[in-house]
Amino acid sequence: MRSLAFFCYLFLCMLQLVAAQPTTDPAEVVALNTLADYWNLSSSWNFSIDPCTPDAQWASKDANPRIACDCSDKTCHVTHLTIYALDITGTIPKELFVLKELMDLNLGQNVLEGPIPAEIGQLSKMQYLSMGINNLTGPVPPELGNLTKLISLSFSSNNFSGPLPRELGNLTSLQELYIDSSGVSGNIPEELAKLQYLKKLWASDNLFTGKLPDFIGTLMELVDLRFQGTLLEGPIPSSFGALTKLEDLRLGDLTMEDSSLDFLENLTSLSILSLRNSRVASQLPERLSTLANLKYLYLGNNILTGELPSRIITPKLVALDVSFNPISGNLPLNSAKVGLAMNVVRTSINANNLYDSMHFFMYMYGYDIAYQPLGMAKPLGMAKKTLGIFRCLQDGSECPDKVPSYSSFSVNCGGTDQISASGVDYEDDSQFMGAASLYASSEHRWAVSNMGVFVSNPNGPLYIAKTDSQIMGALESELYKTARISPSSLRYYGIGLKNGKYNVELHFAEIVMDDSQSWKGLGRRLFDVYVQGERVLQDFNIRDEAGASKRAIIKTFEANVTNTIMEIHFFWAGRGTCCIPSQGTYGPLVSAIHVSQVTDGIGSPSNNDKKRVRRLVGIAFGCAETKKARDKPRPSLQI
Ligand SMILES: *[C@@H]1O[C@H](CO)[C@@H](O)[C@H](O)[C@H]1NC(C)=O
Ligand SMILES: *[C@@H]1O[C@H](CO)[C@@H](O)[C@H](O)[C@H]1NC(C)=O
Ligand SMILES: *[C@@H]1O[C@H](CO)[C@@H](O)[C@H](O)[C@H]1NC(C)=O
Ligand SMILES: *[C@@H]1O[C@H](CO)[C@@H](O)[C@H](O)[C@H]1NC(C)=O
Ligand SMILES: *[C@@H]1O[C@H](CO)[C@@H](O)[C@H](O)[C@H]1NC(C)=O
Ligand SMILES: *[C@@H]1O[C@H](CO)[C@@H](O)[C@H](O)[C@H]1NC(C)=O
Ligand SMILES: *[C@@H]1O[C@H](CO)[C@@H](O)[C@H](O)[C@H]1NC(C)=O
Ligand SMILES: *[C@@H]1O[C@H](CO)[C@@H](O)[C@H](O)[C@H]1NC(C)=O
Repeated sequence: MRSLAFFCYLFLCMLQLVAAQPTTDPAEVVALNTLADYWNLSSSWNFSIDPCTPDAQWASKDANPRIACDCSDKTCHVTHLTIYALDITGTIPKELFVLKELMDLNLGQNVLEGPIPAEIGQLSKMQYLSMGINNLTGPVPPELGNLTKLISLSFSSNNFSGPLPRELGNLTSLQELYIDSSGVSGNIPEELAKLQYLKKLWASDNLFTGKLPDFIGTLMELVDLRFQGTLLEGPIPSSFGALTKLEDLRLGDLTMEDSSLDFLENLTSLSILSLRNSRVASQLPERLSTLANLKYLYLGNNILTGELPSRIITPKLVALDVSFNPISGNLPLNSAKVGLAMNVVRTSINANNLYDSMHFFMYMYGYDIAYQPLGMAKPLGMAKKTLGIFRCLQDGSECPDKVPSYSSFSVNCGGTDQISASGVDYEDDSQFMGAASLYASSEHRWAVSNMGVFVSNPNGPLYIAKTDSQIMGALESELYKTARISPSSLRYYGIGLKNGKYNVELHFAEIVMDDSQSWKGLGRRLFDVYVQGERVLQDFNIRDEAGASKRAIIKTFEANVTNTIMEIHFFWAGRGTCCIPSQGTYGPLVSAIHVSQVTDGIGSPSNNDKKRVRRLVGIAFGCAETKKARDKPRPSLQI
């Protein structure tokens, strides 16, 4: 009896063992083997055991590359496939479409090329699909509209062409749609109005045309909405007033028609609000101060009027930018709040009030004496002339040097003093600069202002980029090993220049984005350059122009000085990728500047127009960064 019982027990065990042994659909095993070979993943996926073995090392939740399966039927099917940031290359192979039960496919951050095959439409169980940051081309296939169970879809940062297919409107379960920097263009299809569960829509840096669609204001679940750097026209539809769940709203670079801020009335969940450079033309509404959760408020480069609401600086506010708006009045009394970066450059806001609050701030928080503002009993450390320069850049009064004495200036942006082979002295510009800073060189020959916060990475890049690599295509490699970068706006001013015709030489080398064959080589930096208020470069891409990363390119322009000041402005208009190779990799970058008067023949110093053509009104005031005395090599004013 006992031995029979034991035999039965053994038999049952064996039966169980056989049952527990997963058997994956043979067609899927073949497909997986082909994919493993094609993408060179055989060392991670050792299919001497069944690919759907539950405790295989590639089955765990954070395995990469990962395969996970559903074995609830007798036959196992692959449901999850992750090949993330492994630099797999080639096209998307047809074998992928054998895996019909896939519900989660992540091929993000690789260098896949060619089109998305139409067969993608066969993977109709898909819920999460990411192909973001690849080198895919061709149209976005309308067959994607067949994946009606999709919850999240990303094809950001690719090189697609043509419009978004209308069929995307069939993805009615979609909660997240990431299509920024994807290469798509044209009108945004009305059918997207059907995406009523959409929470996140990132659509910046695409060549969308037409009006910013009204229907977006009907997507009531939206929490995070981004449309910067497109060709879309304003106004911001009033329907946006219904998007009361929005926490992060970034609209920018809208053209053609003016917008108002009325739609903000009920958007009280907003934490980040950026409406930069978008023809926003209303009075600043008092109700802005009822948006009590705001941390970042960017309204720069618009046509806003009125005064800053007295209670706009709430306890949560971290950064406020209203620069380049005809705003007037005084600063709110609590402007000197610790940790607040505030930018009111080129507004008509009363600067005396500002100086008073700076005085208060610096007194309270023990700033370096080099940073004493005007109005102190003893302007310790800071030359009176420097104070005068700041005053004149700020309010448009006469600059201290009544007789313009310079005919050139040269700056090694972000770096230390360098004398070039041709004897040009590129001056030190290595001082710390914060989110809203203005600095004048020790001889008051030039000044630099920086504006903006890398919102998605506030503790990230500190406005200077550096590399140890050699720079190709330049005699003075050192000049290019440092650069100033900015998330928004970087301006250099030549001060006290004799009037006349000048050559403006701008030196660039891309030292942050690489051009490797990795996904890290897929970033695009695009920005605009203005000289004396005139746009001389649009969507400038240093790496493309130079032919490679870490290769120098010099752009030369001619400009006239008529008011003793030369202004060179580097401006981010929302274009380019945002996050390759890391968060906050975008915006202008400049390595060095050399400006010199043209003295030969026509155009020589002759213009005696003393009138200030360009008024500089306002001042930057930033206290966001904690500064230490050693960060500042020479007298300057952090404002
Ligand atoms: C495949 O991967 C191995 C190890 O990761 C590597 O040594 C080899 O060069 C790769 N082959 C190809 C063709 O990428
Ligand atoms: C695959 O697994 C088998 C059995 O576990 C082992 O013998 C073999 O060496 C493995 N192959 C590789 C390439 O790791
Ligand atoms: C769409 O999905 C269905 C299954 O739900 C499938 O039969 C059909 O072939 C798919 N269409 C396309 C265009 O892929
Ligand atoms: C995108 O594709 C076009 C061809 O359609 C090509 O000329 C261009 O170089 C590609 N851009 C990138 C960044 O790969
Ligand atoms: C998908 O969208 C297209 C275009 O908007 C439409 O013609 C089609 O009927 C839709 N298909 C389904 C199954 O809803
Ligand atoms: C804000 O909500 C109130 C009350 O529901 C409504 O009357 C008003 O029109 C809303 N404002 C906007 C701009 O949508
Ligand atoms: C992306 O594709 C383009 C051609 O469209 C090619 O020139 C470029 O080298 C590819 N980029 C990478 C990183 O492989
Ligand atoms: C500079 O001034 C000269 C003479 O007034 C004029 O011909 C020229 O177009 C101006 N250059 C620029 C870039 O404005």
